[in-house]
Amino acid sequence: GVRPDLTGRHVVISAGGTREPLDPVRFLGNRSTGKQGYALARTAAARGARVTLVSSNSALPDPAGADVVRADSARELREAMVAAAADADAVVMAAAVADFRPATYAPGKIKKKGQEAPAPLELVRNPDILAELAARRARPGQIVVGFAAETDDVLAHGRAKLAAKGCDLLVVNEVGASKTFGSEENEAVVLGADGSETAVPHGPKEGLADRVWDLVAARLAGE
Ligand code: C5P
Repeated sequence: GVRPDLTGRHVVISAGGTREPLDPVRFLGNRSTGKQGYALARTAAARGARVTLVSSNSALPDPAGADVVRADSARELREAMVAAAADADAVVMAAAVADFRPATYAPGKIKKKGQEAPAPLELVRNPDILAELAARRARPGQIVVGFAAETDDVLAHGRAKLAAKGCDLLVVNEVGASKTFGSEENEAVVLGADGSETAVPHGPKEGLADRVWDLVAARLAGE
């Protein structure tokens, strides 16, 4: 059986990938499916937590027992996360958030003009939601967890990112051809701001999710 060690806790999870609109029909997006975030939501609910899942463009079915909030773009995701985090015990940013968005939104569909070359696409930075949530800590003792995909020097880059974001835990995946995106399985190292390092062997995304909740539950219990 599952230990109900998150009973009475409110956890907020982002999942999926943002879409940054260019016009009413076009966007810049990414290949995130939401599987890892949904696995986090299912496992947290199974451990007794009240779960808010902020879902960005995922086609997955709503996890049983979670409140699902939809957010399309990075800015919408930020609004939803900041609102839900206000009374959260733990916040997990599993969504793939676009680092940049088109500088302007065209309210009408952008049209091609004769044989003219298209105007270059101007991009601006999106807010770093994870860094903001970690800096804010809507409630004392709130645990903030991020994800990072790295292709090389995974631990060194992960440590640097953990420090830069200011989160408590960073789940670092090694990515490469066909790894992670859309896959049913995952392999990771979870780095802690306290210097801890937890290797999670290759396995189902639920398994990694449960290891993350183990680490969160221990920190919430003050261990
Ligand atoms: O900086 P990088 O994109 O590698 O960081 C990944 C982590 O930061 C993920 O947890 C992701 O959800 C979060 N993130 C964010 N806002 C952004 C970019 C990434 O919260 N604009």
